[in-house]
Amino acid sequence: MQSLMIRGGRPLAGEIRISGSKNAVLPMLAASVMFRDGCCIRSCPNLTDVDAEVEILKYLGAEIDRIGDQIAVDARKLDQWEIPFELMNKMRGSVFFAGALMARTGSCHLEKPGGCALGNRPVDFHIAGLKALGAQETEPGVFHGGLVGGSYTLPYPSVGATENLLMAALGADGPSRILNAAREPEIVCLCDFLRQGGCRISGDGTSVIHILPGLPEQAEMEPIPDRMEAATFACALASATGDIRLNHVIHSHLSAVLDALEQAGCVILRGDTSVEVRCNGLVSPGEIVTGPYPQFPTDAQAPFLAAMLRAEGITRVTETVFSDRMKHIAGLRALGAEIKCLGNSACVCGVEKLCGATVRAEDLRGGASLAVAALAAEGETKIDGLHHLMRGYERFADKLCMLGGDAALV
Ligand code: EPZ
Repeated sequence: MQSLMIRGGRPLAGEIRISGSKNAVLPMLAASVMFRDGCCIRSCPNLTDVDAEVEILKYLGAEIDRIGDQIAVDARKLDQWEIPFELMNKMRGSVFFAGALMARTGSCHLEKPGGCALGNRPVDFHIAGLKALGAQETEPGVFHGGLVGGSYTLPYPSVGATENLLMAALGADGPSRILNAAREPEIVCLCDFLRQGGCRISGDGTSVIHILPGLPEQAEMEPIPDRMEAATFACALASATGDIRLNHVIHSHLSAVLDALEQAGCVILRGDTSVEVRCNGLVSPGEIVTGPYPQFPTDAQAPFLAAMLRAEGITRVTETVFSDRMKHIAGLRALGAEIKCLGNSACVCGVEKLCGATVRAEDLRGGASLAVAALAAEGETKIDGLHHLMRGYERFADKLCMLGGDAALV
């Protein structure tokens, strides 16, 4: 199993292009089973999560044409609606197929998918929502027919449940509404993709989404830029100091992170399609609390916390979205961080110096946080568990090197 070796202790300089969004592409690929005349996703990031979804599409009977960063899907010959456990279990994104398959075939099997171990990640909202739209549960998690449309209020603005239910609603007999819907930009991107195919969806990006029945015809689109990759590299700069430019960024999609970095002493220059980040030292921004969009994103919690390890003062980071998303703390402490944890809150006491060590990534964003901290640590840091990073970051080591970092796969 490969590892990432980083020699830290020097400022970053340079520019990179941010890839297409993993969390936009995964639901778009799932939605591809619904397109009557096929669809094409351009500028698709080369990630193992994308590979896993392509494998599922092939299993379902779709024809895939993957050339470079372009994935064309023709699902006209789709002949399956059940996904085997070994494919479901590779990542969380597989859960999105349920809504799309329900709309396309009238059947789906919703079971707990894979994905980062961030605590309990049930699918009860997905199940309750399908029932509210009329789907008939014939055995636990298995649904056949009955999609008449209806209204469902999500107990929590779940991203995946919002995406699944809006896709299922396209196959209903009548109109549907999702209330307390998640508002993430990836949901708007999915709806833009479906609208390009002729679907009538409105309200996405707000808490109330209206969906009229009708499967999409055809679409060709690229996903929005990956706001979490951009946030990760902005945190990397804050940690290492220096001056970098991130190209292909919609800065409004990560404004909570950029605002917090500014509070910590970074200079942020927001361009039309880029963000420049400068930093020569940090002070604590006070308390950061994660929450549903547009609040501070949970996926940036670990990289941001890592960037604050040398910030003057005490930074308190509280995770409210997932029940167990602090696994990166152990690795950060191995690098010399001073962090006190109380429940889902971590208090980071800024230190003068961090020292390289061998650490292990336990999940995608936790692995990124170890890299962010390693850039500020003197000497070499070896990060095991690289497969976590490859799920969600395209050419991570290359991009660090393009920014003047000393990183290599070993
Ligand atoms: C999506 O996961 C993202 N994954 C996650 O990104 C992201 O952290 C998360 O949304 C929150 O923004 C993809 O888009 C592939 P949720 P999802 O449903 O849909 C609870 C990354 O690093 N919940 O919004 O699984 C759940 O346990 C990944 O790129 C239920 O209780 O997240 C959690 O506490 C990690 N019942 C909260 O809601 C349900 O039926 C938010 O989860 C569904 C969710």
